[in-house]
Amino acid sequence: MKHGRGPSKGGHSRSDQTRGPSRGPSRSDTGPQRQEQPKPTAAPQAKPVLGIGGIPLGAPTKFKNNPQVPRPRPAVLVPAGEPAARPQKGAPFNLPALEVMTTTLWSYPSQHYWSPTKRRLIGVDGAKYTGATPSWVIWQLLMRYTSEGDAVLDPMVGSGTTLDVCDDLGRSGLGLDLNPQHPQVKLSDARSLPLKGNEVDFVFIDPPYSTHVNYSDDPRCIGKLDSGGSDGGAAYYEAMTKVTREIARVLKPGKHMALYVSDSYVKGRGDKGFMPIGFELFEIMRKPWAAGGAGLLPVDIIAVERGNQKLARGNWHKAAEGGNFYLRGFNYLFICRKAQLAVNARS
Ligand SMILES: C[S@@+](CC[C@H](N)C(=O)[O-])C[C@H]1O[C@@H](n2cnc3c(N)ncnc32)[C@H](O)[C@@H]1O
Repeated sequence: MKHGRGPSKGGHSRSDQTRGPSRGPSRSDTGPQRQEQPKPTAAPQAKPVLGIGGIPLGAPTKFKNNPQVPRPRPAVLVPAGEPAARPQKGAPFNLPALEVMTTTLWSYPSQHYWSPTKRRLIGVDGAKYTGATPSWVIWQLLMRYTSEGDAVLDPMVGSGTTLDVCDDLGRSGLGLDLNPQHPQVKLSDARSLPLKGNEVDFVFIDPPYSTHVNYSDDPRCIGKLDSGGSDGGAAYYEAMTKVTREIARVLKPGKHMALYVSDSYVKGRGDKGFMPIGFELFEIMRKPWAAGGAGLLPVDIIAVERGNQKLARGNWHKAAEGGNFYLRGFNYLFICRKAQLAVNARS
C-alpha cells in the first residue's frame, strides 16, 4: 500500500495484521548473521518511575520533538507526476496517488485531494469552513459503495464537500443543510427530509458533535444541543435518532450510509466530561425500526486518524498529560446498510 501516513503518533498501536502483507525482508534477513561482541556491562541503575504516557517522572518533556505531537498535514495533495496546482511552503510534491483503502485504519494524507481527471483540488472551498469533512474520506466511501450516476445524499452538507466529490466522480449529489453555504445546497432540516423514500443509493453525514462549533443562528441546528448537557444529552440523541431514521427511510433497500463522528471531552466536567457520542449513535442506527431506532445493519467501523491542526499544539498535549485526559485522536466512520426487506415509513 502506497498510502502515506505522515509522522507516527502515539496512542495508536498498529499490529502487523493492520499493516497488510510484509513488504520485504526484515533487517535480520538482509545478510549473514554477525557475531555480537560482548558489550561492557554498565553499573546497575535504579529503574525510573514512569508517569502518564510512560514518560519517566521528573524527565524533561520536550513537546516540540515529541512523536505524539503530529505535524500538521499538508493542505494540498498532489499525486506523483502531477504538477502542484498551488505550491505551498513545505507541501510535498510526491504524495501518493489516490488508492482505495483496504483496512479499517485510515489516515488521510491531506484535507483535500487532487483529482487527476478534473485537474483541480477537490473540497478546497471547505478550507474556509470550520468543520469541513476531508474530501479524501468521502472519495474513499463513494469509490466503495457507489457507481457512476448513483444518487448520493448528504443531509448536513455544510460547505458542500460531498457535492464536490460527487461532481469529481460522476455521482448525482443532493446536498441539504439548515445553513446553505454552496450554490447547489437546498435548505432543509435533516429531521424531515424532502424525499419520498427508498430513492437514494448512498448517504454520507458528518453531523455536529455536540456544541463545539457555532454553525448558524438557526435554533433548529443540532450543534446547539449539548450531548453532555444537564439532560444527559437526551435532546441531542433524540434529534439524531430522527436524522438517522430519515436516512434509513430515504435509502434504497440494500444500499449503504456512512456517519462520520467523534467522541467528545470537555475539561472541568468531572465524570461527565467524556461523551461517548460514537457508540451512542451507532446503537441508535442499529436499534430496530419498530423499537424507535433506524434499523440499519452494521457493515463496518473505520477509525480515521484526525488531522486537526490543533493537535500539533504542544500546549494541548501538556494540558492532556497534566489533566490526565486524552485528546481526540480519531473519528469513527460507521458504515451501515439498509436491509433488502426493510419496512420504514415516515413516523
Ligand atoms: C460538521 S458540519 C458538516 C460538514 C460538511 N460535511 C462539510 O464538509 O462541510 C455539520 C453541519 O450540520 C448542519 N446542521 C446542523 N443541524 C442541522 C439540521 N437540523 N438539519 C440540517 N443540517 C443541520 C450545520 O449547519 C453544519 O453545516
